[in-house]
Amino acid sequence: MKAWQFSEYGNHKDVLHWVDRDNPTPSSEGAIVRTSAVSLNFPDLLVTQGLYQVKSPLPAVPGVEGVGIVTETGEDSKFRVGDKVVGFCHGGGTLADYFEVSNSSAWHAPKHVPDPTLAALSVTYGTSYFGLVHRADLRPGETLLILGAAGGVGLAAIQLGKMLGAKVIAAAGSQEKIDVCVRQGADHTVNYKTQDLVDEVRRLTDGKGANVIYDPVGGDIFEQTKRCIAWDGRIIIVGFAGGSIPRIECNRMLLKNCAVIGLAWGQYIERDPQKVNSVQSHLYNLLEIGAINPVIYKTLSFERVHSGFDLLENRGFYGKIVVTR
Ligand SMILES: NC(=O)c1ccc[n+]([C@@H]2O[C@H](COP(=O)([O-])OP(=O)(O)OC[C@H]3O[C@@H](n4cnc5c(N)ncnc54)[C@H](OP(=O)(O)O)[C@@H]3O)[C@@H](O)[C@H]2O)c1
Repeated sequence: MKAWQFSEYGNHKDVLHWVDRDNPTPSSEGAIVRTSAVSLNFPDLLVTQGLYQVKSPLPAVPGVEGVGIVTETGEDSKFRVGDKVVGFCHGGGTLADYFEVSNSSAWHAPKHVPDPTLAALSVTYGTSYFGLVHRADLRPGETLLILGAAGGVGLAAIQLGKMLGAKVIAAAGSQEKIDVCVRQGADHTVNYKTQDLVDEVRRLTDGKGANVIYDPVGGDIFEQTKRCIAWDGRIIIVGFAGGSIPRIECNRMLLKNCAVIGLAWGQYIERDPQKVNSVQSHLYNLLEIGAINPVIYKTLSFERVHSGFDLLENRGFYGKIVVTR
């Protein structure tokens, strides 16, 4: 088969090549999927650079989620040949003609939903659903501040936050991204490149701050983010797209009676696959009734993976980038 493969760590431009590679063979609980669509994720860049927490033996293939048709199964697989499935591969592997999924990290896909939409859903909406519902316990009427709100998990959080009855403040770094957040239902926006995040959030919340802060960015902006939390609030730590891991003072947590809560969606698959299955089914129902709808910035052919990675690297997109076979 053909695959996007890297044999050493580095920038995708230098190390990622479209090469011949042996087809995967299924383990007893595994199934082999012929790829039709793969969404690119921020961690793909990290996987290729050897900076992600999960490392596969080299030579390796990036791509953590994908859609396709099952062509072969192990004897204990829950799938049958011909099933359409969505799969999550924590260490990578989906940017290839075929990839392997396991029983706990793949789901039967609704047939009527286009493959790019299915490819764009699991990581972003799974993460944001677990973050807002299971970690933050977001309640109707609460104020939700979302950082990096036009990114993959950010837009998912806007749609889910509105569905859960929250007042959503979307914070992003350009006017184009702010406009997307408004179109996706944000009640208020802050451009943190041109406006003071703390002043704006205080103004929008009558000085109280946000009840829940959903933060996939971290980095330098966190110095402002942590000053936006309300009394009894919850800050959900989702990721560090800003590049550095921030700190928070315990006295601030005490005085605000607030919680700083970590979120690791990928680990739920290993530790609580039943819960992930039920959220995944719920997300497909929400998709069907139109309560959520992944925003796809661009669909590229598989051969143009480098262009997609360039967009990821340069922050020049919103929502999701999907490559199709
Ligand atoms: N904890 C989990 O279970 C989990 C699951 C999925 C993803 N994540 C993590 O969450 C983070 C966001 O994921 P995503 O899929 O939403 O990524 P994304 O689509 O690339 O969005 C990230 C957003 O972060 C902002 N940003 C700020 N500084 C940035 C920088 N230096 N480089 C790139 N973006 C920067 C950008 O918005 P502006 O340009 O508007 O600032 C961008 O839209 C990543 O770190 C990812 O690894 C965690």
